Amino acid sequence: MERQKEIELLSQCLELARDGRPFMTEDEVFVPVAHYVDEARFEQERALFFRSMNIVAHGSQIPSPGDFITRDVVGTPTILVRDKDGSAKAFVNVCRHRGATVELRDQGRCKRFVCPYHAWTYETDGSLAAVRQKEGFSSLDIDNTSLVELTCVEAAGLLWVCPDPRVREWNPDDATRAVVAELEGLLGADSTVFASHARLWAANWKLIVDGGLESYHFKIAHRNTIAGFFTDNTSTYEFLGDHIRSVLPRTSILTLADRPVSDWDIRSHTHLLYALAPNASLLIQERHFELILTTPISIDQCRIEIMSVAPKPGPEGYSGKAKSFLAANHAFTKKTLEEDFEIAEQIQRGLHTGANEHFRFARFEGALTEWHRRLDEKLGCPVDEALR
Ligand code: FES
Ligand SMILES: [Fe+2]
Repeated sequence: MERQKEIELLSQCLELARDGRPFMTEDEVFVPVAHYVDEARFEQERALFFRSMNIVAHGSQIPSPGDFITRDVVGTPTILVRDKDGSAKAFVNVCRHRGATVELRDQGRCKRFVCPYHAWTYETDGSLAAVRQKEGFSSLDIDNTSLVELTCVEAAGLLWVCPDPRVREWNPDDATRAVVAELEGLLGADSTVFASHARLWAANWKLIVDGGLESYHFKIAHRNTIAGFFTDNTSTYEFLGDHIRSVLPRTSILTLADRPVSDWDIRSHTHLLYALAPNASLLIQERHFELILTTPISIDQCRIEIMSVAPKPGPEGYSGKAKSFLAANHAFTKKTLEEDFEIAEQIQRGLHTGANEHFRFARFEGALTEWHRRLDEKLGCPVDEALR
């Protein structure tokens, strides 16, 4: 992050924390509950994920040539593999003979992928290497029959994949390029996934996003976890193209008033939250970060994976102290986020009751308003009057 930007963000948070006032927009806004329960709209949202670059893993999960993981990326079964040349590649995990799943394991290391049905064999670059009794396939052009490749990019240490094979290349806009450059500076090159946890939640994916874009709830919903670490309802946000950078000031921000600006360090006094469209959030803490991946499954269900990513240890591994800190921090972050996800499930259970026709977003919940407005625009839906 540019030093000037860091100082600007810290000054803004310090001022709000000192005055005890939230970051406000002009007016409160009403978002229709119908947006969370309309099946046709959900399909449009899912199609948006399908044609986008989704962050699906951290590069350190496939460190060496032959290392692979398999994932469902918005409905596309996918193999992510480190190829011999060191690049990360993604393939549809479907055999080109009769469609069996080529790699059944969640993760592993292999020289080649061997289909468990009739043993067609593929190289880690996707090319078809061997076909048993190939004389039976009179018209098969082995050299031109590969696993179907998906667009895959490794940027800021993260693996981004588009699950739609028709999308042949990544064309990031200027804002995305700038966010990636900012993240490269913040995340560092040598990090590794320390712990991860994934499960399904019975909530519309947008309820999960809503819960991550305001800090009005910290003092109440997180009273048993993080509330005491942050100043009350003073987070700020800025849209960077489709993405958002939100700054969550910690109580220690108030000490900056007595310190020279040259000492100010954003990671010591805030948590930085990046919401990366369409599916990921990065919660950057002082020495490590959490990567939170959300996949919409159905209108009332999503899958969420929480990963703790920390600087790589030396050859002896993490010290006992570092290990305990990271394990405790991962457990604490998971507990905090699950407080949010449980509330999202509660909201989901009430969506059909008709108790609310609209949700009411306060002047200090402006990030949600703007995020919903932009989503409407992206879907080509008429932007609701209230969101204009
Ligand atoms: S389906 Fe894979 S080898 Fe036949
Ligand atoms: Fe929360």
